[in-house]
Amino acid sequence: MDHFLYRDGQLFAEDVAIADIAATVGTPFYVYSTATLQRHFKLFDEALDGMPHLVCFAMKSLSNQAVLRVLAQAGAGMDVVSGGEYCRAKAAGVSGDKIVFSGVGKTADEMRMALTGGIRQFNVESEPEMVVLSAVAVELGVEAPITIRVNPDVDAKTHAKIATGKSENKFGIPISRARAVYKMAAELLGLKVIGIDVHIGSQLTDLAPFEAAYLKVADLVETLRADGHKIGRLDLGGGLGIPYTRSNEAPPLPSDYGAMIKRTLGHLDCEIEIEPGRLISGNAGLMVSKVIYVKEGEDREFLIIDAAMNDLIRPAMYEAHHDIVPVIEPDVAHTPAKYDVVGPVCESGDTFGKARDMPVLAANDLVAFRSAGAYGAVMSSEYNSRPMIPEVLVNGDQFAVIRARPTYEEMIDRDIIPQWL
Ligand code: LLP
Repeated sequence: MDHFLYRDGQLFAEDVAIADIAATVGTPFYVYSTATLQRHFKLFDEALDGMPHLVCFAMKSLSNQAVLRVLAQAGAGMDVVSGGEYCRAKAAGVSGDKIVFSGVGKTADEMRMALTGGIRQFNVESEPEMVVLSAVAVELGVEAPITIRVNPDVDAKTHAKIATGKSENKFGIPISRARAVYKMAAELLGLKVIGIDVHIGSQLTDLAPFEAAYLKVADLVETLRADGHKIGRLDLGGGLGIPYTRSNEAPPLPSDYGAMIKRTLGHLDCEIEIEPGRLISGNAGLMVSKVIYVKEGEDREFLIIDAAMNDLIRPAMYEAHHDIVPVIEPDVAHTPAKYDVVGPVCESGDTFGKARDMPVLAANDLVAFRSAGAYGAVMSSEYNSRPMIPEVLVNGDQFAVIRARPTYEEMIDRDIIPQWL
C-alpha cells in the first residue's frame, strides 16, 4: 500500500497534488511519501515483535538525508556498504551502534572510519577481509564486532543481476567452509565473533528460498555453538520483493516473512537483524515526468518524455517494469492508446515501456512512474549531461525539495581544467 492516490481526478502524494509540485520544481523529479516510508518500516518492526531485533534500512536503495532522518526517527538502524553511506547515516543522526557494514570490498580506510566513529558490526565476506580488519582493529586498540556472511547456495529465483546466494556469486563464504573460517576468526586478534550474516538476493517474491537459507543458518548456529563460538546475533539480509504491477499477485507481506523467521530461527535465542531496502522505499516513491512529444512511428506511437535512462536505469538495466500512469486520472470512457514510452537519450535502450496501454496523451501532460523510490535516484547519473533530477519529500499537506536540481553551471563547474590547457 502507498499514499499515491487519485483524488478528484488528479494524482496526489499524500495531501499534495503532483501537478502542484511539478509547477513549483519543474520536471522530471522524484517524490517520496513520508507516511509510506514510516508505514513500511513499522510493518517490518512489528513483524519481528516478540524477538529482540533491529530493522536496518538498506540505504543503498534510497539514501537522501531527509529520508534517512524519517526512518532514523522511526527507530531504524542502517545497513551501509561504503564509507560514503556510513557518513550519510551518521550525518542523518544514526548512532554507530545501529549501523551494520556490509559489502565484499571494504577498504582499510573504511574500516578505520567505522571503528573510530562507532559500528554495530561488520558483516565480513572473506578471509582476506578478515585479516585486514583484524590488523586495523589491533592498530586502533579496539575489538571489531563481526558476523561472517555465509553463502547458503540457494536459488533466490530472481533476476540474475540481483541474485547473490548461489555459489557462483561473489558474496559471502561457502557455508561448507564456515567452520574453518569461524575458527580462523576466533584466532585472529582484534575480532569479536558475534553472529552469522546471510543475504540471498533482491526482489524475492516467494518465501521458500529465504526459508531454505534460514534453515541452513539455524543448523549452522548449532554447529558453531558446539565448536565453542558465541553466536548471539543473526543478520538475515534484505530482499523481500514488492508488487511492481497492480495486476500482479502480491508478494508475501512482512508479517508472513516475520512469522517464517520466528518459525525457523525463533528457538535459537538470537537477536535478529534484517536489512530491507526496496520494500521500505520502493513504493514510497514516484518519478514524475512530462511528455515532450508524441511521435508517430511506422507501426507505433512514441511518447517521448523528459525523463530518461540516466534518471531511472532499472528498465534498461534489468528489463524492470514500472507502471506508468497519467497524473490526470483517465476518464472511465477514455480513448485508449498504446505507446512506447521513451526518453531523449541517444540509445535505443532508453525505453521505459513498450506498447503501454494509456489514455491518449499530448505534449505537456504529466506521467508518473510508480514504485520508483528504491534504486531510482541513487542509481541516476548525468549521462548526456542531463543534470540530476530533484528529490521532493511530502509530509501530509507539505512538501519540500530535499535535493535540488543543479544548474548547468553547477554541473559544469564540477569539472576542473588543468593549468596547461
Ligand atoms: N542487504 C544486502 C547485503 C544487499 O546486498 C541488499 C541489496 C540489501 C540488503 C537490500 O535488498 P532489498 O531489500 O532492497 O531487496 N539495483 C537493483 C537491486 C540491487 C540490490 C543489491 N543488494 C534493482 O534496482 O533492482
